[in-house]
Order: sequence, then C-alpha cells, then structure tokens
Amino acid sequence: MQNVLITGGAGFIGSNFVRYLLKAEPRVQVINLDALTYAGSLENLKDLPDAERHTFVKGDITDADFIGDLLRKYSIDTIIHFAAESHVDRSILGPGQFMHTNIIGTYTLLESARKYWLAEKGFDKEQVRFHHISTDEVFGTLAPGEPAWTEESPYAPNSPYAASKASSDHLVRSYGHTYGLPYTLTNCSNNYGPYQFPEKLIPLIIQNAMDEKPLPVYGDGQQVRDWLHVEDHCAAIHLVVGKAANGATYNIGGGNQPANLTIVETICDILDERKPRAGGKSHRELIQFVKDRPGHDRRYAMNAEKLHRELGWSPRYDLNQGLLDTVEWYMSHPEWTAAIRKQLDYQSWMDKNYGKR
Ligand code: NAD
Ligand code: TYD
Repeated sequence: MQNVLITGGAGFIGSNFVRYLLKAEPRVQVINLDALTYAGSLENLKDLPDAERHTFVKGDITDADFIGDLLRKYSIDTIIHFAAESHVDRSILGPGQFMHTNIIGTYTLLESARKYWLAEKGFDKEQVRFHHISTDEVFGTLAPGEPAWTEESPYAPNSPYAASKASSDHLVRSYGHTYGLPYTLTNCSNNYGPYQFPEKLIPLIIQNAMDEKPLPVYGDGQQVRDWLHVEDHCAAIHLVVGKAANGATYNIGGGNQPANLTIVETICDILDERKPRAGGKSHRELIQFVKDRPGHDRRYAMNAEKLHRELGWSPRYDLNQGLLDTVEWYMSHPEWTAAIRKQLDYQSWMDKNYGKR
C-alpha cells in the first residue's frame, strides 16, 4: 500500500478512516476523492494528522474518464471504496440516486481499476487491492433469537439502499472471479461516533435533545441494530486491507444489541447528567413515537468471529463508553454542527422526512 485512493473520504466513516490511516501508515499517500454531496464536507477533514500526505480531489465515482485519469495521475495501487448514498430513509423517498451512485459508481471504479491495473500496467496481484466497504443490511432482517449473520448467510436485502449495496458487493465479487481483480470486502453493522451527519439516529437524537426538540422514535422503538464505534470499524478495515487474502470477505459488528428506544433513553440519561434541562426535567420527556419506516428491518446482528479468529480483531469500545464519548464530542463541537446544518439540504430533509410523520 503506497498510493491509496479513498472514495467518500469526506463523509462520516471515510473521514474517520483518512485520519486513522494517516496515523497508522506513516509512509502512504492518501488521495481522497469525494463529490461533496449533502453527506460530505471539508469540515470533516480539518486538523488531519500529517496533512501533507493527504490530497483532496472533488469528483464523482460515476465519471469513468475522470477516474481513469486519477488512477494514472497518482499511480494508485490501493482503492478503499466508501463513497455511497447511505441513508435508508432517503433511499425510500428517492431510490434513483442510490442505484446510480452505489451500483454504477462501484462498477465504474472496478472497471477503471481493471483497465489500469490489469490491462494497462500488468501489476502483480500482490501489488494492488480493491477494498469494498459494505453493510450488514444486505442480509435482510433477523427474527428474535435467530443466530447472527456469518459470511455464508444468504443475501436478502429489503430496502432500496440495501439492494443497491448488495448489487455492488456482487459486482466486486464478479470482477475478482472473472478478471482476477484482487479484492477484499467487509460488511459492517451500524456505526456511530464523531463526524456522523446529524440525520442518522444517534447524532440526530443527541442534537435534538441538546436543542430540546422532539426525539423521533420510529414505530415501537424495539428494532435492534448491532452498534459499532467508527474507530473499531476503521481498525478492522485497516487490518483487512493490509493482511487479508485476496477474495476474502469479513463480517464486522459490535456485539452490542440494545433496542433503538434503549439507545435513545441512554443518550437522554447521559445528557441529564452532562447538560441538565431547566426545572429538573428529563430529556426522556422529549421522546415521541412517530410513524414507522416502511419495510423497517426488525433486527440486525453480525457474527464477527472470522475476523477475530483470522486477523485478531476485537472492538475496543464498549457501547456505554462509546455513547458517552460521542455525546461529549457533539457537545464540544458546536461549530461543526452549525456548519453542517447550514448546508442547504439539511432543513429540507428534516421537513420532508418528519413533517408528515
Ligand atoms: P456518508 O453518507 O456519511 O458518506 C458518504 C460519502 O460519499 C460522502 O462524503 C459523499 O459526499 C460521498 N459520495 C456520495 N456519492 C458520491 C459520488 N458519486 N462520488 C464521490 N463521492 C460520493 O456515509 P458513511 O456512513 O460514511 O458510509 C460510508 C460507507 O460505509 C458506505 O459505503 C456505507 O454503505 C457503508 N456503511 C455505513 C455504515 C454506517 O453505519 N454508517 C455501516 C456499514 C457500512
Ligand atoms: P439509521 O441511523 O437511519 O440507520 P439504519 O436504518 O441504516 O439502521 O437508523 C437506525 C435505527 O433507528 C433504525 O432502526 C431506524 C431508527 N430511527 C428512528 O427510530 N428514528 C429516526 O429519526 C431515525 C433517523 C432512525
């Protein structure tokens, strides 16, 4: 790994990974390609460690000519592909952009890598690697008590987002199988932590609670996600890219599985201590049950045993500590939130998604 192209590196997980990689790999050059959609921001890339090894390029992963030129210009040997449309609720209200970015975008990157690495340069298989970042949502939904998903679980995506990610996973696998493109693939559970766009559950609840606004819980709030701190996800990706065999896939998960309502209540309790409301009222009084998401998956759970056994990965954060740190990060970065909320799209999304719920 010398010249690493990170796609989507101005988004939540991508920007955390750029930070992680600059620290973990003192010799790599990081080329960060991001279209700066509503979800990406240069605000996420301030104060990078060793910033002279980071080059930001604004551009679109669906633009084949542009991607081909970029790979050549920076002699890219490793692609770590985060760029995507990532919010299930947005995929329900507007699936087209998900198909374009997640499917055509991944196809365009694969095809450009194939042409440059295999046809044009004839790189040795050990010298190049395409790592694809995916989600547990490709596996569908679990009933209570069903075992957590393994790498062998069948794909059964339920939302347009999940289906577009499943398609991209299949494309990556097919490029490995048919053309011999060296790849690895990870499917991870729900992340949380610093720099997460405040329309996803955890940052939305933290921000709304700090502003004393309603805390929207879909349906009965008993849906279960397998929460993982973003730094633990970054550590897992770094291990897989550096150490895993060509063609390997790994599930990544936190093993923490409280229901959404419990997550919301825990955040309220943390804020009751750290930022008490006037008159001794609890933040829990702000919770509002709202109309459920159509097709809402009930439960996700990942079995990350293979990653633990083969590469020695375990999550470092326990959920309570991770939530506490995350609340404190949002409390101590009001300027970040203000800048992100100024983006034109933010309020119109909140009106569109919650206005009629
Ligand atoms: P995000 O929405 O915060 O960031 C996505 C980034 O991709 C943004 O910076 C955006 O500007 C960029 N982007 C979008 N379309 C682009 C295009 N056409 N060209 C170039 N850049 C483009 O998403 P995230 O939460 O950081 O997720 C990153 C990846 O991890 C995604 O592939 C997602 O499916 C996957 N994932 C996310 C989670 C999670 O809990 N957030 C869990 C598992 C997997
Ligand atoms: P989200 O952060 O959108 O992630 P995903 O849908 O990819 O799992 O949502 C996490 C869970 O929280 C999911 O079960 C939907 C629920 N949720 C709410 O109850 N209220 C909200 O306002 C949001 C955004 C999500």
